Amino acid sequence: MAHELWAKGDAYEAYVGRWSRPVAARFLTWLAVPPGRRWLDVGCGTGALTGTILATATPAELTGIDPSIAFLTTAGSRLTLLPAASGPPSAATGPTGARTDPGTGADSAAASGLTSAGTGSGAGAGLCPVGAGAGSGARADSGSVVGAAGSRTGPEAASGAAQGAGPDTGPGARFVAGDARALPLRDAAVDVVVSGLALNFVPSPAAAVAEFARVTAPGGTVAAYVWDYADGMAMMRYFWEAATTLDPSAAALDEGRRMSICSPAALSALWSAAGLTAVTTRPIDTTAVFADFDDYWTPFLGGTGPAPSYVASLPTDHRDALRDLLRTRLPRAADGSIPLLARALAIRGTTI
Ligand SMILES: C[S@@+](CC[C@H](N)C(=O)[O-])C[C@H]1O[C@@H](n2cnc3c(N)ncnc32)[C@H](O)[C@@H]1O
Repeated sequence: MAHELWAKGDAYEAYVGRWSRPVAARFLTWLAVPPGRRWLDVGCGTGALTGTILATATPAELTGIDPSIAFLTTAGSRLTLLPAASGPPSAATGPTGARTDPGTGADSAAASGLTSAGTGSGAGAGLCPVGAGAGSGARADSGSVVGAAGSRTGPEAASGAAQGAGPDTGPGARFVAGDARALPLRDAAVDVVVSGLALNFVPSPAAAVAEFARVTAPGGTVAAYVWDYADGMAMMRYFWEAATTLDPSAAALDEGRRMSICSPAALSALWSAAGLTAVTTRPIDTTAVFADFDDYWTPFLGGTGPAPSYVASLPTDHRDALRDLLRTRLPRAADGSIPLLARALAIRGTTI
């Protein structure tokens, strides 16, 4: 969908990635998965949830899957990449010591439950571990091999090394291009499947949740969170209400109206339809504190995600009017900061 291009990892980080991370921490505390489990993060994007798993859940294995090569490249530069599981070294080692997997190591793929292109679900999902050097702005189609991993050397890798020393550092993750509806994993390949803020953007959430259940071993956990776009995600609510005041047709793009699965009942129905048991939902409330109006508004100019894509479509005078209306409407704390409720709806279930 043209309005939902996920093409700029840094822009996404400034826009929503930074607010997904605190939700991810609370979500993982709620899941309370013991250490040593095999994890899959679907729609991992720039790695907000993946990095939090690395930092807090002590996974035995961790794979992030997303169709956006640009986002996977950002994730790979921020997080420690997982070395190949076995076999002779086949990827160059850069200054960080982290390795990119060129995607041809059968031993490595087998150890992580990954299938090669055209196998597994039978849906033609492609296996393409991504590392520094993958192209930016590209989107992976299932079955296509994109963004061949390069050696982790040069300025991009050095930048990744610096960021890799931050809070997201951990034992390592593998990032793979793929689609939630046709996961390139064998049946029962992992113990935990999670997905943060992504299910709304998958054309068939039911197909995605069925895939989550398929690749999870019996007794495993399938869990996700989505923004409460219709109510508790105030950053978006202020935006779309102002946008609609100036342009009633913007209502058709409002995530609060068109994201049909953003309710506990709709999420529960999805989980139950996929055969998951012990299904539980809960809200996760955090506060997004914007330092000032520019901190709120500037990320909307980044062009990544539905609202920024709408802003990018506006003529300058209309964009300025929207900015000025938001400036008058947003609540301010005494220090000038803008604290806004950021509510996510979380769900978990168990495979039989
Ligand atoms: C709002 S971002 C969430 C990213 C990340 N999980 C986070 O919490 O910040 C939505 C993500 O869903 C991904 N996505 C869109 N369609 C998808 C699909 N069919 N299968 C898997 N992921 C998809 C996008 O590429 C994007 O990275």
